[in-house]
Amino acid sequence: MEPKSSWCFMFLLAGAVSQRVIYSDPVCGVRGSTVTLLCTFTPDTVTQGGREVLVEIIRVIWCQNHPICQGVTPTVYDNKIQNNPNNPRYRYLGDTKGNCTLQISGLKEEDEATLRFRMEDEKKLSVYTNTTGVRVTVVDGTQMKILSSRDGELERGEAVTLTCTTECTFHQLEVTWFRDGHALPDTGPSLHLSPLKAEDSGNYTCDLKNTVGTISHPFSLNVEAGEEEQSTSTEQSTSTGGVDTLLAVRLLLFSLHTVLIIIVASIVIRRTCVCKKAEQPPDVTEEL
Ligand SMILES: *[C@@H]1O[C@H](CO)[C@@H](O)[C@H](O)[C@H]1NC(C)=O
Ligand SMILES: *[C@@H]1O[C@H](CO)[C@@H](O)[C@H](O)[C@H]1NC(C)=O
Ligand SMILES: *[C@@H]1O[C@H](CO)[C@@H](O)[C@H](O)[C@H]1NC(C)=O
Repeated sequence: MEPKSSWCFMFLLAGAVSQRVIYSDPVCGVRGSTVTLLCTFTPDTVTQGGREVLVEIIRVIWCQNHPICQGVTPTVYDNKIQNNPNNPRYRYLGDTKGNCTLQISGLKEEDEATLRFRMEDEKKLSVYTNTTGVRVTVVDGTQMKILSSRDGELERGEAVTLTCTTECTFHQLEVTWFRDGHALPDTGPSLHLSPLKAEDSGNYTCDLKNTVGTISHPFSLNVEAGEEEQSTSTEQSTSTGGVDTLLAVRLLLFSLHTVLIIIVASIVIRRTCVCKKAEQPPDVTEEL
């Protein structure tokens, strides 16, 4: 009971301190890629006619390396500046109600910074910046890695998913795949190969478009021929439709067989009894 009630109390307290901005965790992006800084905010409340109402936010700003994005600080986004001439690569996906998500595309070295969000009401009475901010790190040419969903030997007809990944964020649609150096039509971080064919064997690499030095080490995929096993497994799978009738026929044969055995056995038993009866009287007469 104790911890529960104190939790409720803390929640109420947090609610009373209404102005807040929650940023995403630090973001690391590969140069040239697109990163999204998830962000939510809650405006301040004011008492209007005895009721608590949210302050109307009319200006939202994102800036780099300034604790409160104040005054003449250059901004990377400002909704009061049309078409954001400061930097068209910074796109605000949020609104003025509670979402302050920012997207940065075509990441460059100069984007590496701590970014902060500032909100203002019309009278600038409730101006707020969470000074924590979100750190954006830009890496150049981080090498991609290929991970496989399966270990060990692969046979024809099986499935495998190769995933192209790296520690830093990258635009998932910018992933390209190669087999033995030839580009595959597939894009995206996952390459799903199913059912596996012998031709799928080869050395796979993945890369990010428009980026230098990100190509992965080759991943060698070897699909075992498994010719015999393949044919028996297809036979089995095609006959599954006839399994029920096959089973019925077998049961019928089995029961006929059993009936036959019983009949034969009873005839044999009856005969031996008859024989014994026939043999017995002479025995008796001999004894007499
Ligand atoms: C400021 O941002 C940090 C990181 O997102 C968050 O943990 C913290 O709760 C925020 N503080 C306020 C008062 O919004
Ligand atoms: C804020 O907007 C972004 C982009 O549209 C979206 O992905 C995200 O889910 C939104 N956040 C919330 C809390 O609704
Ligand atoms: C992959 O490359 C190695 C040499 O780097 C080569 O020996 C091997 O045969 C290749 N594998 C396939 C399946 O082509």
